[in-house]
This record gives sequence, structure tokens and C-alpha cells, in this order.
Amino acid sequence: MVRNRIAVLHGVNLAALDRRPAQHYGGLTFAQLEVQITNFAHDLALVPRFFQTDHEGEFVQELHKAGDFADGLVLNPGAWTHYSWAIRDALEVSDLPAVEVHLSDVRSREQWRRHSVLEGLVAATVSGRGVGGYRDALASLRDVLEGST
Ligand code: DQA
Repeated sequence: MVRNRIAVLHGVNLAALDRRPAQHYGGLTFAQLEVQITNFAHDLALVPRFFQTDHEGEFVQELHKAGDFADGLVLNPGAWTHYSWAIRDALEVSDLPAVEVHLSDVRSREQWRRHSVLEGLVAATVSGRGVGGYRDALASLRDVLEGST
């Protein structure tokens, strides 16, 4: 069975990407980001499905049902990454392989960004590689889904 359906979940403030500091987020619009991710996914023979919300409960609910339509997850929960234990628990509920991605290098910014609630649950974390980080995240996830890692 081909396992190539990827839910790409974006959290709080990601939809306002082009209004956030360009030195961290590259200045591109969220729509441009989704186009790039779509291209990366197609190059890797993956089928992406996108979701973004600024509401934590909606993000949690999307994780609860993700198993109905996805084989794996690419997650950028934004600031929730650093404190939302509810999202960690919901990821556990999803029972899907997941890769965490951040556009900016969260390890070289403020101290509070260095911790991720997803640690230990995700197969890999990609940080500080800009848009290209999503290609790396998708490639890692494909390896996991193919059972090669
Ligand atoms: C982010 C990093 C987070 O610390 C921040 O709160 C975001 C975006 C990133 O993609 O670099 O909203 O997840």
C-alpha cells in the first residue's frame, strides 16, 4: 500500500508570514509557502493537504482526525511549539509519524524558543533552513513512511 498522503499543519501566526520579521521568515507570503511545499511534495511523489489555524483547539481537533486522511504529518505549530502540551498530547492521539519544521533557527533565537513540546514524539526536527526546510522535512517523512529509517 502506498503511504504518501501528508497533512501539513501550520499553527498560530503562520498565515501572517509576510508581516513577520523577514530576517527570520524570509518575507514570503503564506500562499507562496504553500505553493513551494506543494512543489516539493510532488517532486517526492507525496500528496500534501494543508491546514492552518490560529486557534489551538482547532489544531488539536485536526490532529485527532488526521489519521482519516493522512499517512504522515509535517508540523509547524508556531509559538505553540514551545508551550502547548495539549498539542503534544493530540499528536500522540494522531498516532502518525511526524516531522517538525521551523523556518527560522529556533535554537539561535530567544531562550524560550529552544524547547519544543514535540520532542521525543517526532521522527525529525528541521529548523533554520527557511522554505527549503520543508523539502527536507518531507524527504525525512517519506523515508519514515517507506520504512527506510
Ligand atoms: C516558527 C518559530 C516559532 O518560534 C515562532 O513562534 C513561529 C514560527 C518558525 O517557523 O520558525 O511562529 O515556528
